[in-house]
Amino acid sequence: MGRTTFLRAASLLLLCALGGCLKREDSARIAVAVPLTGDLSVEGQGVRRAVELAVAQARESGALAFPIEVVAFDDRADPETAVKAARLILADPRVVGVIGHFTSGCSIAAAPVYAQGSLAMLAPVATNPRLTRAQSEPGWPGPRNVFRLTTTDEVQGAAAAEFARYRLKLRRFAIIHDDTPYGQGLSEEFRKRFLREGGRAVLFEGISIGDRDFRPLLERVRREAPDGVYFGGLYPEFGLLLRQARKLGLKAVFIGGDAAMTAGLFAAAKDAAEGVYCTSPGGPLELMPGAEKFIAAYAQRYPEAEIGRYDCFGYDAAGVLLQALRHTGPVSGPGRAQVIEVLRGVRHRGVLGTTTFDAKGDTHLRTVGVFRAYKGKFIPARG
Ligand code: ALA
Repeated sequence: MGRTTFLRAASLLLLCALGGCLKREDSARIAVAVPLTGDLSVEGQGVRRAVELAVAQARESGALAFPIEVVAFDDRADPETAVKAARLILADPRVVGVIGHFTSGCSIAAAPVYAQGSLAMLAPVATNPRLTRAQSEPGWPGPRNVFRLTTTDEVQGAAAAEFARYRLKLRRFAIIHDDTPYGQGLSEEFRKRFLREGGRAVLFEGISIGDRDFRPLLERVRREAPDGVYFGGLYPEFGLLLRQARKLGLKAVFIGGDAAMTAGLFAAAKDAAEGVYCTSPGGPLELMPGAEKFIAAYAQRYPEAEIGRYDCFGYDAAGVLLQALRHTGPVSGPGRAQVIEVLRGVRHRGVLGTTTFDAKGDTHLRTVGVFRAYKGKFIPARG
């Protein structure tokens, strides 16, 4: 923690103590709010495991002077359920911070609920820029409480567009999104940069989550004969779309975003996944600065589980929060605002690198990797 942050936290502590507003608990809870059931449960459970690993390590190392536990909430990747979970979390005075939510839609919906109670929210993988931007807009109901561990879709969409234009040398794209804040937002960012780099968007069209028949839309895509198809959305729809596209004989190159790059894509798309490109914030896990220890500790604690692409973001989100809690202790009530103050100046060396936040609450780590599906795995793409 820098000197300024320390002084800020110390003065807040003093003010609260003088004003009698600082309530203390004997123990603390970290809430993790992600999809634990449904299509994104593999990813959500992975993030939960990673958070629990970080907290267990902190407990075992004696880094915290008070007991701490993780409480998990299932938002089912549904914004309404996420808001209900957020209200429950806020009502528990022992919760000192939230790691979640997973999707941008859930995160954007739940963030103002936490702001009302001055509760810090660390979004591990939600990439829509609006999530952090919203807290600087008039009417935000509390302190700027949102911090994000992943880079945003402005960066991810631009990286995909540049890869398509300059590495793959493609000029004409059909763009399909799933009409969610994540999928549509990412597709818009892709289109913006692709057009700026001299590409053409021959189609820009939304589908809905749960749709199963994409053939009429794909017929339209085929008539346009694009070089590539960009898909902004989740892996279940992308998988089906790929299968139907290949059946129709569509030869275009397909590119998706981080939420398409899951093991589930191979189950959903079967052979049609082969050769698909996906972008994902962060480089390959094995090459991340703190990967080696993380991978070993994860395998030791969860020998049955395969480490997921998003798990390192959950692990570092927990690491950042735990670092802040070492300074604040188990605060509650209005004292929760102290955690937010400390997070603004936090500097945490984790798996992803050294996480620090900008004025918006976004990480300064802005690497985006491009990967290609090859024999049931995603490998770094050469282009
Ligand atoms: N990056 C995905 C989203 O924002 C997980 O929803």
